[in-house]
Amino acid sequence: MEPFSIRTYFQQDHTELDDLLVQFQTLKRSDYAAAKSRFVAFKFGLQRHIVWEEDLLFPAWEKATGQTESGPTAVMRREHRQIADALEALHRKVQAADPESDAEERALLALLSSHNRKEERVLYPALDGTLGDEERAGIFRAMNELPEERYKVCCADH
Ligand SMILES: [Fe+2]
Ligand SMILES: [Fe+2]
Repeated sequence: MEPFSIRTYFQQDHTELDDLLVQFQTLKRSDYAAAKSRFVAFKFGLQRHIVWEEDLLFPAWEKATGQTESGPTAVMRREHRQIADALEALHRKVQAADPESDAEERALLALLSSHNRKEERVLYPALDGTLGDEERAGIFRAMNELPEERYKVCCADH
């Protein structure tokens, strides 16, 4: 594996987040407390992933290509807002400990699957091809240094 591959790392993070949501679905009708802990890990992880992309990956792409408003990152940012809305709809069901959230899960998974596929096929490989080793290493350092309060954002009762 090449050092600091953005595609490898972020694709793996997509997979781990999907797994957490599937675990929530598997557990929610038998052990809601366990399901909820998976949901909270999913929520924080997804919020962290989106901040990593919007604060670090997308600006690196925009700087390298000069594409901002008309480029793929503008589309990805808009999709992040849709994903955040779908996440919040599911979050409201979880706050009420209401397992009847199949529709919210389906909507969120559908948005994520098409969004993630685009990033994995286009944006991440383009970033790996465009950025030098030093730049990518800098991005991974900044990812590690992101303060928790940027993504561990939830309501008071979790
Ligand atoms: Fe994204
Ligand atoms: Fe992503």
